[in-house]
Order: sequence, then structure tokens, then C-alpha cells
Amino acid sequence: MGKVYVFDHPLIQHKLTHIRQIETGTKDFRELVDEVATLMAFEITRDLPLEEIDIETPVSPAKGKILSGKKLAIVPILRAGIGMVDGILKLIPAAKVGHVGLYRDPETLKPIEYYVKLPSDVEERDFILVDPMLATGGSAVEAINSLKKRGAKSIKFLCLVAAPEGVEEIQRHHEDVDIYIAALDEKLNEKGYIVPGLGDAGDRLFGTK
Ligand code: URA
Repeated sequence: MGKVYVFDHPLIQHKLTHIRQIETGTKDFRELVDEVATLMAFEITRDLPLEEIDIETPVSPAKGKILSGKKLAIVPILRAGIGMVDGILKLIPAAKVGHVGLYRDPETLKPIEYYVKLPSDVEERDFILVDPMLATGGSAVEAINSLKKRGAKSIKFLCLVAAPEGVEEIQRHHEDVDIYIAALDEKLNEKGYIVPGLGDAGDRLFGTK
């Protein structure tokens, strides 16, 4: 079963609290999501492999360590996932960025993919799939299907706030996908919102209603 990592770093929790607050406006919400995404990117990249190289400091020869050139791709689930991309790119600027768009079929209520664009070398990349909210897990599971169908072998799912239902849904369908979250909330309400959550992440990011 995939692991769940909850990032309880004080800076992440502090910023997430402001993100949650109803009085936080679009500008601050966007900036805070961006900052938390950067902090989460720092944690999620802990396992990146390093290689040793020979260097010269001004004082003497030395051994140094650099990233061994693992290829990464960030894939936001449209549209709210877009709000986390720039924050992650601040730490891993060479990552490629794909996109997955899903809509909900009005009859079956199932998520259907309407747009997928990924880097061409899918099989060689490690994917970070991002969406601020993991609610029912339906979109996340379908987005992971979309990546796997195109050859993705390594996928991490990154979100700000998750409901237990969403975590279970990913674990049930994709046991090879680890989940990285800033907070595991209580439940979903009857409208599918995470409680206490932060409301509609897309609307709050883009100032729509
Ligand atoms: N999507 C959101 O933006 N918010 C929720 O609470 C659930 C899904």
C-alpha cells in the first residue's frame, strides 16, 4: 500500500492556517499556496539521488555531491493544481510540466479526462501529480490512470488538504503511489467539500465564484 506523509513542519502549518481562513483574499491565498508548495517540494525531494564529484574549493580539492540528474515532471490537475506549480518549480526549475484536465460526467458523476499533455519521455520521468485538494479521490485516481496509461512508472501525489476518503480511494486503486499532504482533515460533507478544509481551492486561487 502507498505511504501517506503528512508534512507537519511549523512553517507549512502556519501558512496553511492562513490559507484556510475565510478572510484570506485571492492575492494572499495565491501567494501562500505558492509558498507552501515550495516548502512541500523541499520535503518531497528528500529521496532524490546524489552523485559524488571532484571539485576544487578556493582552499583545496574536495568531494562534492550533486543531483544525479533524475528527470522530474510536475503535473497539475486542472485547474486548481496550477496554483502549486510555480512554487515547486522554484526548487526544481528544470522539471518539465505536464497537464491533466478532467470534468465530471453529469450523469455518472465520474471524472472524464478532456486534456492530457505530458513530456514525451514519460517512462523515464518521476511524476509529481499536484492538486491542492484530495476530496473523494475520484479525480486523483483518474489522473493517475491517465499518467499510467501513457507509460508513467513513478508517481507521487502532492496536495495541501486531504480527506480520509480520498486517501483511501488512491490507496485502493494505486498502491504504488505515495501521498504527500500538509493536513489530513476530518471528512467530506454532503456537497463533497473537505471539512474543515479551505473551501473551493480553484475559486479562491483564481478569484472566481
Ligand atoms: N475541491 C475543493 O476545491 N475543495 C474541497 O473542499 C473539495 C474539493
